[in-house]
Parts: sequence; structure tokens; C-alpha cells
Amino acid sequence: MKQLSPLQIKLLERLGDGKCHSGNDLGEFLQITRTAIWKQISQLTAWGILIKRIPQRGYQLLTPLILLNENQIRSRLNDYSLSTAFDFHLAAEVDSTNSYLKSLPSAPSTAICCAEKQTQGRGRFGRQWSSPFGDNVYFSMRCEWTQCLSQLSGLSLVVSLALLHCLKRHQIDDGIGVKWPNDLLWQNKKLAGVLIEVSAESHGNAQLIIGIGINVNSSSEKQQLSDKPWCSLYDITGRYVDRNRLIADLIASLIQYLEQFKEEGFHGFRQQWLDVDLLKGQAITVSQPAGVLLGRAFGVNDAGQLCLMDEEGRMHYLSSGDASLSAM
Ligand code: BTN
Repeated sequence: MKQLSPLQIKLLERLGDGKCHSGNDLGEFLQITRTAIWKQISQLTAWGILIKRIPQRGYQLLTPLILLNENQIRSRLNDYSLSTAFDFHLAAEVDSTNSYLKSLPSAPSTAICCAEKQTQGRGRFGRQWSSPFGDNVYFSMRCEWTQCLSQLSGLSLVVSLALLHCLKRHQIDDGIGVKWPNDLLWQNKKLAGVLIEVSAESHGNAQLIIGIGINVNSSSEKQQLSDKPWCSLYDITGRYVDRNRLIADLIASLIQYLEQFKEEGFHGFRQQWLDVDLLKGQAITVSQPAGVLLGRAFGVNDAGQLCLMDEEGRMHYLSSGDASLSAM
């Protein structure tokens, strides 16, 4: 895990207004020489932060940037009366927030990790999750699961519903739906994804690591993040979203939904899922290790399994797989 130095944080906060600042101005502000400023800027650009050098004028961030800040996240969380306390790990750069939490000694307390950038962000099915600096949310929560592992069925769907609930708090849920088991899509383009990892422990409990990636301030017009169609909250709303507020609201939604899930399982969320289910009634293709299934989606059952009727009229109940709309 790498951190920005206090000097680099101050420098980025100064540049964060998106205006051009001269080397002199920045040097005076930070009480260091212009050459030292130049060195710091070079280090920041090596992190992948897009800072433009304008000859004779100075330095300018190409897109506005508000750094992640634990105090701001915790202060927004004061608006909620949360029952769960958590340790917070904030990184400037980490291989993967999921992997980082997995590497910590196991503990009964909840831990959260967020990063400005991931060097090996992971998606489902061994895919890569593109994670450039400062634009998006790369979030993981680790918590202990004391119930039977079979009761985890439907968890990933519930996590996507919690994510949608958090976006609703930001009035950004219009037209966003869920694609089984845990993608958020807008206009058929991927907005967010969930990667859940479970590790069983010797005393019978399990550690859950819930990883969430949300495309927030990346612009799909300007950046090539993946070969699949994707979008961001910025694309949807046309404005930059404050990631600290978003993360606080995500934590609150997630804790609330996980508590209800522990009590009721997926059953209590099924209708909520069906209301925003993008596959329901559609001709779909599901890839699984055993092969590819074609058919029509009939929503999900009480265990969160996808109900798919194949071309012979047989109903299949799927617990995992990569689903997509079939080409017409
Ligand atoms: C997917 O849709 O394939 C799941 C993507 C999950 C990405 C997030 S980003 C934070 C966390 N850390 C990771 O390495 N992956 C998840």
C-alpha cells in the first residue's frame, strides 16, 4: 500500500480547483523551491495523475480532483446512526482493495479499504478492473460471517441493491438497473460491478470481502477503460460527484442492507430486485464453466438464483455465471 506524502496532498489540494498555478505560486504556498515543485509534479504524474505543464504559465490538473479523505467520510457518516464500527484503510495506491483486506490478519471487526488507484484491480472471472487514479470508487469491506455458508445465497444481488439505494440518495438512479448477479447498468453500459470473496476460517466462521467498483468521474468519451461498453456517474449526470460523500452513503446503505440480509436472507429483497431487473423477460445467454445456456430470463427465485427457461421449455436455476442479452 502506498500513501501520498503530506506535501503531495497539499499540492494536489491546491491544484484541485482545476486552475493553472505557476511554479512560483506553488513554491511559495508550500515553502519549497520551484525545482522541488517540479520534482513533486513529476512524481505525481508517475502515479498516473494527469497534470498538464503549460510553458511560461505553470501546472494544471486536466480534470478537477477532490482526494479521498477519511475525516470527510466519517463526518458524513455522523448523519447516520450506524450500529457497526469499522477500521478504515485509505490508500493512494494498492494492488487491489480486496487483496489488501484479505492480507490483513483475520479479526471479528469490520474493515474497509478504499484507494485512489489500484494497480491490479480485479473483476469477476479473472478479469481486470481498470482503476485510474482519483476518478472512481474502489471500495472493499471485510466482515465476519457467523451463519451457515448456504445462507450467503443472494448476497451479491443484495450488494448491488445497496449500491443502487446509495445512488438513489444522490438522486442518480433514473434508468439504472441491475444485471444478474451484480452489475449496475445504464443504457446497457456497465456503471458498477461487485466482486465478493469468501474465505472459510478454522473456527467455522467465514470472512466476507465485498469489493465494489463504481465508475464515478471518468468520462467514457475521453477515456478507454475497457473493451466493453461502460459509463460513469459523470456521463449520466454531466457533473463531478463527490466521492467522499458517495463512499459514506455506500457504507451506510451496505451496512443497512447486510443487517436485513442476515435477518431475512434474499427473500426480503426479491421484489426490489425484480423491480429493477434488466434481464427479466429477455432472451439471454449465460456462460458457465460447464458451457453456455441460451433461453429466456424469468427473474430470480427466493435464493437469488436466475430462472432461465431454455429453448426446450426446461427451467434452470442458476447460482453463478456471466449473463448477457442474446444478439437478436
Ligand atoms: C466485476 O464486475 O467484474 C466486479 C468488479 C469489482 C471491482 C472492485 S474495485 C474494488 C475491489 N477491488 C478489486 O480488486 N475488485 C473490486
